[in-house]
Amino acid sequence: MKPRKMKDHVYWMGSVDWDRRLFDSLIPLPDGTSYNAYFIEGSEKTVLIDTVDPSMVDELLTQLENVSKLDYVVSLHAEQDHSGGIPHILSRYPDAKLISSPKAKGMLMDLLRIPEKSFVTVSDGEAISLGDKTLKFIHTPWVHWPETMVAYLKENEILFSCDFFGSHIATTDLFVSDEGRVYEAAKRYYAEIMMPFRNVIKKNLEKIASYEIATIAPSHGPVYPRPSFIIDAHEDWIDGPSKNLVTLPYISMHNSTKQMVDFFVSSLVENGVSVEQFNLAVTDIGKLAISLVDAGTIVIGTPTVLGGPHPNVVYGAFLANALRPKAKFLSIIGSYGWGGKTAEMLAGMIPNLEVEVIEPVLAKGLPAEADFKALENLAKTIATKHKDHGLK
Ligand code: FEO
Repeated sequence: MKPRKMKDHVYWMGSVDWDRRLFDSLIPLPDGTSYNAYFIEGSEKTVLIDTVDPSMVDELLTQLENVSKLDYVVSLHAEQDHSGGIPHILSRYPDAKLISSPKAKGMLMDLLRIPEKSFVTVSDGEAISLGDKTLKFIHTPWVHWPETMVAYLKENEILFSCDFFGSHIATTDLFVSDEGRVYEAAKRYYAEIMMPFRNVIKKNLEKIASYEIATIAPSHGPVYPRPSFIIDAHEDWIDGPSKNLVTLPYISMHNSTKQMVDFFVSSLVENGVSVEQFNLAVTDIGKLAISLVDAGTIVIGTPTVLGGPHPNVVYGAFLANALRPKAKFLSIIGSYGWGGKTAEMLAGMIPNLEVEVIEPVLAKGLPAEADFKALENLAKTIATKHKDHGLK
């Protein structure tokens, strides 16, 4: 694709990756993604903000064909989907200076072997003049690596946010046209990538609140012409109240746990609690992560295998612990054949979750009447706790 004009002398460059389906060999990308770079032509200096994934660097080099002089390359984030093209750009423009945060400098030298002489580091709040335009750098650590920063183009009120406010979505829309579609993609992105750092991100949201922002230009997904849409969404995801929702990841081997899940879900619904259940044998973990953004309670369903939880459930619990959702309660349901330490092992795998653990319900073999009664009581307990905490 050719460069696309965003404003006078401000252009989108980069690549739309329609085919990519996995990020970090972990994160599903059902809608592909994009790697957005931005080119600013000031009256005196030119800047390229970020680059692209190494697999797509040829497209960026072609987009820059008519740019004879590049003064600066800015690296807002050292991860290779944005920084991977930097060595190629510096090779084409050997006089260009690479602007980064001090922390990013070391990381880029480690990750890409970029020589130290290429760098100019900027402190928090430092600005550079491009002649008729001013680019200010705001350090926003931990969205989602320690070195991340954003750049603010003062005269156009554009915030270049890199991963912050991103969405994994391949589209020809330069600007967001369908907020509903982008909301879902951005929520998935937040859930999978940003949620573990939500307490730090909250501070970064406060930090950028003092700037007049007319446009947010992230490095994944379309540009936001209405920044309040995505800022408000992040405030809700980060700090809004949990919902009257149980997220229920589970596995069943011989249908006993599945019978418990089915009965339990029905009991929760009868008690006015919404449920989203995820069979970990087949689920898209991104959908599970999205659900965890809102869940008031997490209930894990697992059979006992080899004396503990099913390995897929161990993976699910590890993920939930790493993502640090704001859920308030957690419980465990499932079936076992002759013994094991499933509940104790699972409870020990979630130290990051600030949850009250509600008494698990574990059935020996097929669930019997007493087990169904216990599940009904668990559903009632969760409904009462949600009500007492005002979850809606
Ligand atoms: Fe889009 Fe953290 O890289």
